Amino acid sequence: MSASNGAPANIDLSVDIGGVTLTNPTIAASGCYNRGAEFGRVVDISAYGAITLKSVTREPRLGNAMPRIALTPAGMLNAIGLEGPGIDYFVAHEAPKLSSVPTVVIASAAGFTVGEFVDVASAIDGLPGVAAIELDVSCPNVDSEGECFAVDPRTTDAVVAAVKRRVKLPVIAKLTPNVADIRPIARAAEEAGADAISLVNSLRAMAIDVERARPTLANGTGGLTGPAIRPVAVYQVWESAQTVRIPIIGMGGIETGRDALELMMAGASAVAIGTANFRDPLVAAHVRDAIAEEARRRGFASVRALTGLANPGFAGKRWPADRRPQRLGVSR
Ligand SMILES: Cc1cc2nc3c(=O)[nH]c(=O)nc-3n(C[C@H](O)[C@H](O)[C@H](O)COP(=O)(O)O)c2cc1C
Repeated sequence: MSASNGAPANIDLSVDIGGVTLTNPTIAASGCYNRGAEFGRVVDISAYGAITLKSVTREPRLGNAMPRIALTPAGMLNAIGLEGPGIDYFVAHEAPKLSSVPTVVIASAAGFTVGEFVDVASAIDGLPGVAAIELDVSCPNVDSEGECFAVDPRTTDAVVAAVKRRVKLPVIAKLTPNVADIRPIARAAEEAGADAISLVNSLRAMAIDVERARPTLANGTGGLTGPAIRPVAVYQVWESAQTVRIPIIGMGGIETGRDALELMMAGASAVAIGTANFRDPLVAAHVRDAIAEEARRRGFASVRALTGLANPGFAGKRWPADRRPQRLGVSR
């Protein structure tokens, strides 16, 4: 039996992310629906439990030179360079349209210093129609030779703690996969007061145009997204879920319900979809319905029961005390 939205009836699809209730666990990842309002005319955004807006910076930015997109065998490379009109324009011209977006809106703040994050997040805090703020701590830190904030627990802590002191909305820390060990970073975000973490952002990568003997992207390097990075995302969600108790939004290469279930069973409470939107505008509805169907098939009343199902060390501690966290063995 199906509910009117195509999902199986009698399954509770709702999830809680840091105090924000989503009607279903699918989220549009930042960067794939720009800043929101215009897309309602093209696709049914309400299929998503939430939409995350393209990250906003303090100053206007033109972004990187073209080409800044390249296809890869199992995904794509991008080096957009955080193009956008800046926070003042966003507040004056784009934010007023957000109340008409037919799902929960998560705004995204980016910055190149702790102060920029605080300024952008403070300006977003309290805007009508915005339910939470995601911090793109995967940005380069200009005070640290351009190293990402989220490669170091101390700089992750500095951004999240400073923003938490200034805003009332729930804060989600968006982590980078470009680290050897995600656990200290996830822990730092939680201890600094993040209400949730999301991972993964794009994986640093590049391609060479062999004909012209130079990098394919004008920027040289870019971020790899799409199915190629999904196993990295599954692993890092798994590790994070054994480390923190705050909800995790898992993402990286989700194209189907099965892909989303991998991330949920590793420990994600919700899943975000980015690159797949460019190919399939209906991907959210398909993924949502497949998650609900899996819950039904297993006899669960709620999709929340799928979170951490494959992860005995899931810090949510739904597992019996005698089941010790399973450490992964050496794989070489
Ligand atoms: C074109 C493009 C632009 C993106 N812009 C942002 C951004 O502004 N802020 C951010 O936090 N993540 C950004 N991302 C990363 C995605 O939100 C997501 O973390 C990543 O693409 C992995 O998910 P996917 O494999 O489903 O695309 C962008 C991704 C793409 C492909």
